[in-house]
Amino acid sequence: MGSCDASPGQAAAPGAGGSAPVLALEVNGRAVSVSVSREATLLHVLRNDLGLNGPKYGCGLGQCGACTVHVDGVAARACVIPAHGVAGRCITTLEGLGSRHGFHPVQQAFERAQAAQCGYCLNGMVMQAAALLAREARPSPARIRAELSGNLCRCGTHIEILRAVEDAAARLASA
Ligand code: FES
Ligand code: FES
Repeated sequence: MGSCDASPGQAAAPGAGGSAPVLALEVNGRAVSVSVSREATLLHVLRNDLGLNGPKYGCGLGQCGACTVHVDGVAARACVIPAHGVAGRCITTLEGLGSRHGFHPVQQAFERAQAAQCGYCLNGMVMQAAALLAREARPSPARIRAELSGNLCRCGTHIEILRAVEDAAARLASA
């Protein structure tokens, strides 16, 4: 993950010729600048303007977790965040979680556990779990369960998902 050089909360400059105001962000370690309406959500900008389709559109109401990204390292629901409200902040999407050389340990654990059916919830599960493991060295199974309780999986893959996160936590703690 990169670090933000832009000042948090900087004002959006108006676009040329009365177009939508310009929004500057750091996304996956890269400074980006896009012209978007004041009503646009962060999820809309990531998917539609930046072509980052890791975060998914599920409920659009902040209730399912499919759209989860990290804002300055904290898991957040991109579908209900006004894009201009996070001007200058560091955004990490699923695409930026791992490195060019390998998956993030949480992604590796999901792959080992084959913790997916349709896969639609996985962006949110992985991003939520990665944020937890970044701030807590060895969360208990109950803590992991509580952390992921707001991430919905309509396929009923919760048991495998929880096992995968426990596996990632154990491996990270012993690394
Ligand atoms: S799509 Fe954002 S929480 Fe459901
Ligand atoms: S694997 Fe299908 S929604 Fe979770």
